[in-house]
Amino acid sequence: MPVPDVFSPAKLGPITLRNRTIKAATFENRTPDALVSDDLIEYHRLPAAGGVGMTTVAYCAVSPGGRTSNDGLWMRPEAVAGLRRLTDAVHAEGALVSAQIGHAGPVADARSNKARALAPVRFFNPIGMRFAKKATRDDIDEVTAQHADAARYALDAGFDAVEIHLGHNYLASSFLSPLINRRSDEFGGSLANRAKVARGIVQAVHTAVGGQIAVTAKLNMSDGVRGGISLDESLTTAKWLQDDGGLDALELTAGSSLVNPMYLFRGHAPVKEFAGVFPPPLSWGMRMTGNRFLRQYPYTDAYLLQEARLFRAELSLPLILLGGITNRATMDLAMAEGFEFVAMARALLAEPDLINRIAAEPATLSECIHCNQCMPTIYERTHCVVTGAPDSIH
Ligand SMILES: Cc1cc2nc3c(=O)[nH]c(=O)nc-3n(C[C@H](O)[C@H](O)[C@H](O)COP(=O)(O)O)c2cc1C
Repeated sequence: MPVPDVFSPAKLGPITLRNRTIKAATFENRTPDALVSDDLIEYHRLPAAGGVGMTTVAYCAVSPGGRTSNDGLWMRPEAVAGLRRLTDAVHAEGALVSAQIGHAGPVADARSNKARALAPVRFFNPIGMRFAKKATRDDIDEVTAQHADAARYALDAGFDAVEIHLGHNYLASSFLSPLINRRSDEFGGSLANRAKVARGIVQAVHTAVGGQIAVTAKLNMSDGVRGGISLDESLTTAKWLQDDGGLDALELTAGSSLVNPMYLFRGHAPVKEFAGVFPPPLSWGMRMTGNRFLRQYPYTDAYLLQEARLFRAELSLPLILLGGITNRATMDLAMAEGFEFVAMARALLAEPDLINRIAAEPATLSECIHCNQCMPTIYERTHCVVTGAPDSIH
């Protein structure tokens, strides 16, 4: 089979992207009152105008308690009109748009949300200084139904796809993790039990949208934590998800927002900058233990490729390669390795017009230096501190 050109159109389930590039989720924090703002619309219009095939709105929680903090949007009838303005603006630029839906689980800040957080077990969140409640069977059923509702709101609002968050030790991912999920009931123990929440959510969303829009999921290949989700178990989960038939593609990620965030990002660990955004005593804790929490990993281009190759070899499901894709060479490599799409987060945060510039000049290099100082800006208003984008662009 000839290697496809990353700039050629491609089908993703029922939709067709104008090219094979996707702007990955970068929590925007531009949702005052948990509703869409003009600022949020511009944040997504820019990469759309900049040539991306599809942009991803993040993070669209399925309930107030499923947010990482009360700055976040949650899917509900009042949110639909604003989301419709956003999807119209993206479509006017020729791109498609996906909504990342999910429940933050143990990562949710219950104090800020003023709503209980849920986890597989009673779990202490040091940022919110609150315990997440151990989810009952009824809670799990409710969250599953909320994912289906969120997908229906996304459909009503004109989204082309939903991306279900099954990674980063958010709720579904924390159920998959043997480290966090110490339950002894039907949702704990064996992988088949731990995978029930993720599989149930995907099936509910698949049924809710009935093939009208694409359904993808972002799944951890590994947590990067001893005792957490391993490659082997994740590969088995991915095969089950493929066989269940509820997904049009899988985006492969890694790491844990709870215990090992830098495994997801690689590059400089912004300990000082994180400490700066928290009030005492959290800032002191971050200064003292930050090097352990934000354990640093060297950055290389396409840093998740080695793990992702194992998934590519075993799965027929379309796969989206993520992690350190910033230039034409890494895009071409992803295509040559058999991935259907590439997802890019920091590089498009730094330069929303990067795709058009790479298309025009393949030697274009990204200005992202993976300093990761964009990470703490999620607590104020997400942006790149190097280029000033998306407020200042080429
Ligand atoms: C500022 C920022 C916010 C992010 N927010 C989210 C998010 O809400 N949901 C998610 O799944 N990933 C989130 N990510 C992770 C990215 O989607 C992506 O997995 C990661 O940055 C690696 O891709 P990259 O090398 O292209 O940046 C975020 C990343 C950054 C830099």
